[in-house]
Amino acid sequence: MVILGIDTSCDDTSFALLRNGKELLANLVSSQIDLHKAFGGVVPEIASRKHIELIDGLYEEALHHAGLSEKSIDAIGVTAGPGLIGSVIIGLCFAKGLSMSLNIPIIGVNHIEAHAMSILLENDVEFPFIALVVSGGHTIILRFDDFGVYKVLGSTRDDAAGEAFDKIAKFLDLGYPGGRIIEELSRQGKRDFVAFPRPMSADDNYDFSFSGLKTSMINYIKKNGVNNNINNILSSFQEAACDVLVNKTLNAARDVEISRVVVGGGVASNGRLRELFHERSARDGIDVFFSSPIFCTDNAAMVAKVAHHYFIKGKISHIDIAVYSRMKIH
Ligand code: KG4
Ligand code: ZN
Repeated sequence: MVILGIDTSCDDTSFALLRNGKELLANLVSSQIDLHKAFGGVVPEIASRKHIELIDGLYEEALHHAGLSEKSIDAIGVTAGPGLIGSVIIGLCFAKGLSMSLNIPIIGVNHIEAHAMSILLENDVEFPFIALVVSGGHTIILRFDDFGVYKVLGSTRDDAAGEAFDKIAKFLDLGYPGGRIIEELSRQGKRDFVAFPRPMSADDNYDFSFSGLKTSMINYIKKNGVNNNINNILSSFQEAACDVLVNKTLNAARDVEISRVVVGGGVASNGRLRELFHERSARDGIDVFFSSPIFCTDNAAMVAKVAHHYFIKGKISHIDIAVYSRMKIH
């Protein structure tokens, strides 16, 4: 059984072909980073137009890469939301066209569920688990008891964590996307050079706030200047961001007595975040699972994985499925 996965939720166009839920025959991601660099962030209209340009060619390339003809595809899994609405519509319309022309089912996939389940491409993590999905668009803690059976435990009240990394990089003119660049520079910096706040860490909930952290970092620089301390300042910021992400997620896991945590989304590729999770989870006997970096950032393999599950359960979508911009799982 072959599932075609499609993801166009933000600025990456991606196609994957997954056989029997395990064998990844192709996972192509065409990044638009160079296009959006000049703006220091994703420009939705430019992203939509680029998806239109890329989508046909990338589909053909994925089939070629997998050595399959389109007749081998049994079902299509496609991100139906949340994401940039114009971008999501392009993937969904393409999937609907294919579904009609090949006469195969379509399965609308929630992008956040796909990030959480991406771990299952490489590891058999048992339910229930706590998932932290942390990217440029989302910072959310969920409890998953099964595919589609979830509870949101906490989320950001303002910026997503990745968005804060990107906005700080933009402010300092470091390049885009900011996360990887800040991680690189932080390696040579002192983590405790500036005691940045840990917003909402004392609150009795699992919500986050990254806008305040971003502002206090920017205010620090406006007041003190950078003075050859860029690596130290960035390292202190990264430490504060990772500290709250790790503590809130592990608090949630302890409070609901679940000993498995999965971490997905672009920020999950951050080395310091991984290190802190491992250091702090060990003492409580909590196992933390991270996807490989290629499955942390946006990719269609994770969408195909979720679609495979729903397809074998007979949970397919109607052809008139609409896009959605907010959290909604099946
Ligand atoms: O999951 P993703 O590809 O797209 C969204 O759904 O948003 O995540 C992209 C985000 C960007 O904000 C980027 O700066 C951040 O993930 N990111 C990182 C790292 N690599 C990517 N943040 C921190 N450290 C990294 N190594
Ligand atoms: Zn994403």
